[in-house]
Amino acid sequence: MPGLFFDSVLTCPVCGQQQVRRIPYNEQLNSFYCKGCECKITVPGDQCCIFCAFGSHKCLINQGWEKLEQKQLIEKMKDHVHKTEKKFIPALGYDFLTAWYDATIRITMPEKKFRNELINRLKPEPLEQIFEFGYGTGANLAIASSRSPNSSFFGLDIDPKVREIAFSKLKGKDILVELQLYNGDIFPYDDAVFDKAYSCLVFHQLDDETKAHCLREIYRVLKPGGKLIIGDWGKAKNRWMRTVFYTVQLLDGFKTTTANVKGLLPDYIREAGFTDVKQTGFINTHIGTFCYYEGIKIEK
Ligand SMILES: C[S@@+](CC[C@H](N)C(=O)[O-])C[C@H]1O[C@@H](n2cnc3c(N)ncnc32)[C@H](O)[C@@H]1O
Repeated sequence: MPGLFFDSVLTCPVCGQQQVRRIPYNEQLNSFYCKGCECKITVPGDQCCIFCAFGSHKCLINQGWEKLEQKQLIEKMKDHVHKTEKKFIPALGYDFLTAWYDATIRITMPEKKFRNELINRLKPEPLEQIFEFGYGTGANLAIASSRSPNSSFFGLDIDPKVREIAFSKLKGKDILVELQLYNGDIFPYDDAVFDKAYSCLVFHQLDDETKAHCLREIYRVLKPGGKLIIGDWGKAKNRWMRTVFYTVQLLDGFKTTTANVKGLLPDYIREAGFTDVKQTGFINTHIGTFCYYEGIKIEK
């Protein structure tokens, strides 16, 4: 069934704050909590549910699923997840290594430093809506939201396995973030909803076409004037850095990492429409040169 949406952006009718929610197939939600004005928002009597009243996409029944039996509906959800599973490189290159992702990063990279420098560049401010593309095990979201608890954070990833890890990590720290999954196509958000977007160690895992597509999607969901920060592998700063980076390429593949090695990420960012694109710094690690890039969505 084409054109169905599993996530909806809810807009608070009191303060206009937006949040993304997964649409459940088995319950009708008649209220939600708005973090912006700290109100409980209840559905007006003439509306079916929060998604039909306040969402960018209506509930699954009103998207045309009412003719399906619940069993068929669950099968469709499985199909959706199954399609998702085919199209990506897992966090450490292979699915069975995902459980070791956090430990591997801790050992091979100066983790505190590169993550803190990323969030320094992001500078999250209260009430901003901030989007992380490819949240992985939630390490950046944990730092960013504890630094700025009054910003709203939204994460999008493709891998259900990392979502589980991120979910329990953030829950354990009492951090509330919308952790979304999608199927690798259109992002489940309206145009121009985020003030800032960031991404860390994701683009070297995307083939060239997917890099371009995801940057265009990030551009679409950012507000005019919104900022994008990317931290990822870049052109090696010396021969040793180039040599050690083969470790990453052996795990993640040569096809997706070549553009990073050639230092082409800024070109991709520019081609998606961003302006003022630049590299703002780098860190040499045990496994390669990690670079920071940024760009701005043009003000209209
Ligand atoms: C190396 S991990 C980085 C995770 C996290 N950002 C970090 O800083 O540790 C790469 C992440 O990108 C995600 N990913 C891969 N392909 C993706 C795609 N097409 N769309 C969204 N996320 C993707 C993976 O599921 C994984 O969580």
